[in-house]
Amino acid sequence: MLQEAELNSLQETLKLPVFYANIVLLNVSNLPFRLQKLKEMFISKFGSAPKFYARAPGRVNLIGEHIDYCGYAVLPMAIEQDILIAVEPVQTQVVQLANTNSSYLDFTTSVNNVQINKTKPQWHNYFLCGLKGIQEHFGLNNPTGINCLLDGTIPPSSGLSSSSALVCCAGLVTLRANGKTLSKVELAEICTKSERYIGTEGGGMDQSISFLAEEGTAKLIEFSPLRATDVRLPSGATFVIANSCVEMNKAATSHYNIRVMECRLATKLLSKSKGLEWKNMLRLHDVQTKLGVSLEEMLTIVEEVLHPEPYSAEEICKCLGITLEELRSQILSQNMQDVSTFKLHQRAKHVYSEAARVLEFKKICSEAPANALQLLGELMKQSHISCREMYECSCPELDRLVDICLQFGAIGSRLTGAGWGGCTVSMVPTDKLNTFLKNVKKAYYQTDGQRLAVENNSLFATKPGRGALVFVEA
Ligand SMILES: *[C@@H]1O[C@H](CO)[C@@H](O)[C@H](O)[C@H]1NC(C)=O
Ligand SMILES: *[C@@H]1O[C@H](CO)[C@@H](O)[C@H](O)[C@H]1NC(C)=O
Ligand SMILES: *[C@@H]1O[C@H](CO)[C@@H](O)[C@H](O)[C@H]1NC(C)=O
Repeated sequence: MLQEAELNSLQETLKLPVFYANIVLLNVSNLPFRLQKLKEMFISKFGSAPKFYARAPGRVNLIGEHIDYCGYAVLPMAIEQDILIAVEPVQTQVVQLANTNSSYLDFTTSVNNVQINKTKPQWHNYFLCGLKGIQEHFGLNNPTGINCLLDGTIPPSSGLSSSSALVCCAGLVTLRANGKTLSKVELAEICTKSERYIGTEGGGMDQSISFLAEEGTAKLIEFSPLRATDVRLPSGATFVIANSCVEMNKAATSHYNIRVMECRLATKLLSKSKGLEWKNMLRLHDVQTKLGVSLEEMLTIVEEVLHPEPYSAEEICKCLGITLEELRSQILSQNMQDVSTFKLHQRAKHVYSEAARVLEFKKICSEAPANALQLLGELMKQSHISCREMYECSCPELDRLVDICLQFGAIGSRLTGAGWGGCTVSMVPTDKLNTFLKNVKKAYYQTDGQRLAVENNSLFATKPGRGALVFVEA
């Protein structure tokens, strides 16, 4: 992470910012400490100096969980923690990747034959997603080789989007190394698609905020077409990230993909019951658009059409008038074949109510009534309850952490990111921040040796940071 002082010194030494692919390209003399260290390690590793640096931030989602892939707007902000890569394009058609953290092993491959291993993805596979996405977008016949040294400060498997930041940073590195240009929106769209090479059916929030973020403001991110609108957070409150120290593991990926599928099945059943062309409908947002009704009306329709008891594959087939064979080959993805029950009512209810909370959150921020903080806090609490009860993406530790945060003065608190582990985000009155941090530390982290060991990276205040950047040394 660039420390505050370093960021400031970066701004001061900023000479003539020019726009490269709509990405700010900073000329940096007096490299800040972290870049200087990275440069030295790069030289000792590869024997020559990096030609440029790219960084892409992680993010915290303030509200709007699990709805980007349903087509609904979300409300994240970039955090300071990021992926930073020192890069030198080379004549050999080889990608050499190294990491400042020795737990992540070096990796070398030909630029012409990029294979992405979905089975057991390692760090370099995320890099390769970004690389491959850009190569394919431009149909590069003769892509340049690159030497890269990566330094990451986003805690992995914590719901702060370390993997997407890596995909985005790799996309930016490949773009610049091959002398191409794209807008930030195009980059975000390409990186969203290319992250799917690894087998996660993401909706695009993470890549979008990593590119489109701006310092000092959260963003409402809307999809189809992708766009970002500033959301100025009310003064008087600080957002605090707290890691539950439960790692989101591979099971989380599989839960995640099942949720994506449940939403798709709910889309089809709702569409069929309303006489829409259900075969072409993929996202819950499309149902609302086609019917031309409000989110509140969609919630009523969910109550009428879907039952709370889980659906079996057989019942879904009956509702849609298709065979099990057709369901498996035309709708369910490969890794979903042996899932036997689907909760459609609960998932759809979460999505439509969460989509409404996001719009309400934005409205409160722009109107800024006197009780704005209370209202926003209430929305965050409701969001957590819906994630826990309807979407079942929380876990006992996240629930406990949310309770502790609320108990010690947070106005609102919720899980953030996909869930099943990872972090919470809480809104805390700024004048109570220090006692809040002290009390949460005592109540959640100091009661458990393992949590204590990681505590210093696990509980921190954050503010909206800037999006992806390329730096060159002046
Ligand atoms: C290196 O990465 C491992 C695995 O993610 C992590 O446990 C460890 O804390 C990291 N080390 C440093 C110095 O960041
Ligand atoms: C993917 O990685 C796993 C574990 O490292 C390995 O067993 C498997 O053979 C790899 N698959 C491919 C297609 O390379
Ligand atoms: C966390 O930081 C505090 C203050 O800087 C320090 O005293 C403490 O030893 C650190 N804890 C760990 C586990 O590193």
